[in-house]
Amino acid sequence: MNKYLTISVEDLKVGYYVVGIDKNWLETPFLSHRFLIRSDSEIERMKSHGIRMVMVDPKRSEGDLSQLQNGADEKSSLPPEDVRTVMEDVPLSPVRVTELMTNLHEYLVRRYKALFEELRTKGSDPSFVIDTGPFLRGIEDLEKLGKHYPDALLFLAHLQSTDDDLYVHSANVLFLSLYLANIQKLPAEESVLWGVCALFHDIGMVNVPLEILHKKEPLSSRERGIIQDHPLFGERLIREKTRLPAEVAHVAAQHHLRRDASGYPAGGDFSRTAAVTRAIMTIDMFDALITDRPYRDGVSPSRALKIIVDASKDSLDPRWATQLFLGMGVYPIGTVVELSGGEIGIVTKYHSHSERQEGAASRLVQTFSVLILKNRSGFPLTKPFIKNLTWSPKEPPPVTKTHNHSDFMIDWERLQGLAPYWMG
Ligand SMILES: [Fe+2]
Ligand SMILES: [Fe+2]
Repeated sequence: MNKYLTISVEDLKVGYYVVGIDKNWLETPFLSHRFLIRSDSEIERMKSHGIRMVMVDPKRSEGDLSQLQNGADEKSSLPPEDVRTVMEDVPLSPVRVTELMTNLHEYLVRRYKALFEELRTKGSDPSFVIDTGPFLRGIEDLEKLGKHYPDALLFLAHLQSTDDDLYVHSANVLFLSLYLANIQKLPAEESVLWGVCALFHDIGMVNVPLEILHKKEPLSSRERGIIQDHPLFGERLIREKTRLPAEVAHVAAQHHLRRDASGYPAGGDFSRTAAVTRAIMTIDMFDALITDRPYRDGVSPSRALKIIVDASKDSLDPRWATQLFLGMGVYPIGTVVELSGGEIGIVTKYHSHSERQEGAASRLVQTFSVLILKNRSGFPLTKPFIKNLTWSPKEPPPVTKTHNHSDFMIDWERLQGLAPYWMG
């Protein structure tokens, strides 16, 4: 897990990519704790805010970090430890669960990215086949962990990355799919199949030239056409280069179809799509909405759920929009919320939803916990505390505002620090 280097802020240079600092994220003016140092004044600014140690990612940094590499851990290229052995000591501590899941997330993202690179160079060779074994083992491990600790799946599905967004997106869709499969109480093999379908749903994007994939300006209609070929290209890749079950190819081919025929590819028949396809297309849209793009900020998870529920009136399957809404709650775990009293916190637990009977009518009630991090005057709390809240559609909402992730970027180290709260 130590693929990062911890160095003194005095050794920091322009071009280094910072992934963590030694201060509470809310005590600094920085919106994110993962960023590229672009100027000396940024380093001075960090020093002036009392930051002494920073964690840098050598892979994303520019320039030579070899003098800092002494003792750098090369473990990052190895697969994560065997979850099956670890799981024998259940229950695991929250920190341990987060660590294991984070490792799996990183591992799958890394392998998936390497697969894309391999496909770009050797993909046209007819004898080339995709080695799906490591992915299957990773997803099986994740399924086992997720069964015992579903909240962790939700929490870690909020991870974002600007560089590897396609691979991180695929891993996030995988985490959320396992969560949804878990709520459906699907047998383990079926949940794993959902996970495989989720991870590989966008594999056809490998056919999209990098300059289009990373383009910050609006796409031309020709470029859009190339992107819209990814479902069918993905389907062909899965059929020709793997022995994965037919469902995986179907999800790749159909995840952009829409009930009102507004999706693609043209001529696809939504009515013939399976439950797993409809579930994954709903999750895919959710993750796309909350993710920042070069041309727009992502929306908060709460807002994304509302957009999904609205979209289910004509384009998505209402069953899966509802399942996602009920499964995640109106303020999904990991959402940064501003309460009606002015405090700011992060949703750490979704307890339940229930129907409350009132005379002849019944109404939906959801209860959830928020870890309060800033008081009503905006000061960070030295001792964050949990507040339990109730939401019901007919009452004034307990939350006045939800923030998108670019306002309060939630980084991996921070999530690990919060683990005792969200599982407490
Ligand atoms: Fe897609
Ligand atoms: Fe996608």
